[in-house]
Amino acid sequence: MKKNADYELLDCGGGRKLEKFGEIVIDRPSPAAELVKKKDPELWHGKNAIFFRNKNRPSAWYSADGSLPESWTIEISGIKALLRPAVNGQIGIFPEQIDNWVELKKTIRYARSDLKILNVFGYTGIATLFASSASNDEYKVEVTHVDASKSAVNWAKENATLNGLEGNPVRWIVDDAVSFMEKEIRRERKYDGIILDPPAFGRTKTGKMWSLKKDLPSLFDLVSGLMSANPLFILISCHDRELTHEDLAKELRTMKFAGNGIIKSGNLTLKAENGATLDSGVYAHWMKK
Ligand SMILES: C[S@@+](CC[C@H](N)C(=O)[O-])C[C@H]1O[C@@H](n2cnc3c(N)ncnc32)[C@H](O)[C@@H]1O
Repeated sequence: MKKNADYELLDCGGGRKLEKFGEIVIDRPSPAAELVKKKDPELWHGKNAIFFRNKNRPSAWYSADGSLPESWTIEISGIKALLRPAVNGQIGIFPEQIDNWVELKKTIRYARSDLKILNVFGYTGIATLFASSASNDEYKVEVTHVDASKSAVNWAKENATLNGLEGNPVRWIVDDAVSFMEKEIRRERKYDGIILDPPAFGRTKTGKMWSLKKDLPSLFDLVSGLMSANPLFILISCHDRELTHEDLAKELRTMKFAGNGIIKSGNLTLKAENGATLDSGVYAHWMKK
């Protein structure tokens, strides 16, 4: 984990993770920590809030001393993120992506050309803002940010304003990712870089269920149809425990331009100072050579 982030994994175990975002320490469920023992049980007493997933009552945040703010801001490698405890236990950021975001910005900067980037399943826009902030006076980076949730897109716009990037060329789209990508193919739009972080399961606009594992090849068909003649990168990640980073890398290798670049893949691993580690998803990254 890069040191210039207001984030720390403090410990994990017993199906939970203890994390520090800025000054706020929270304890949340984490299926990936189910088979692990807490390394430092004492640490867990000092938290500001805990999120419980309940069976018979609504899941909720509890703060014994009322010290969980309604919202607060942290900074990750120069990008500010507005955090807010949500009813599903998320708070507006997936810190396991930090290294990917930092690398993404570098890739875009070093390209030294005008670029069109698509970020689907974009959530609160942190990847979008890392990409957009790589724009400069010489080279224009246009980002299209897509998420099916209107509140996530509004949150992403708030993040853009918080970073003074509200004037940057970003298209904010509330739409189903697959249906948006299909429409973009029909409109013959092309992108130099695509970022995807799809959920494991979903529903199409027409209500049909899809699963990432089953529908991964068709998602990559869409990606392939959207890439420009000289693509720069594809960054895919997911939290689907049925998929390995090799599965993602294998799909990247099927792209007709794969040979013009290199593929890096791995686990999205959070590491605590006390030695605790938490695998929080997988990623694969194709980058032009
Ligand atoms: C894991 S989060 C993405 C996190 C984000 N990439 C990041 O790193 O900040 C998944 C997002 O996908 C969105 N989503 C779920 N199903 C979708 C769909 N069918 N089309 C578009 N977005 C969808 C959710 O609203 C959520 O914001």
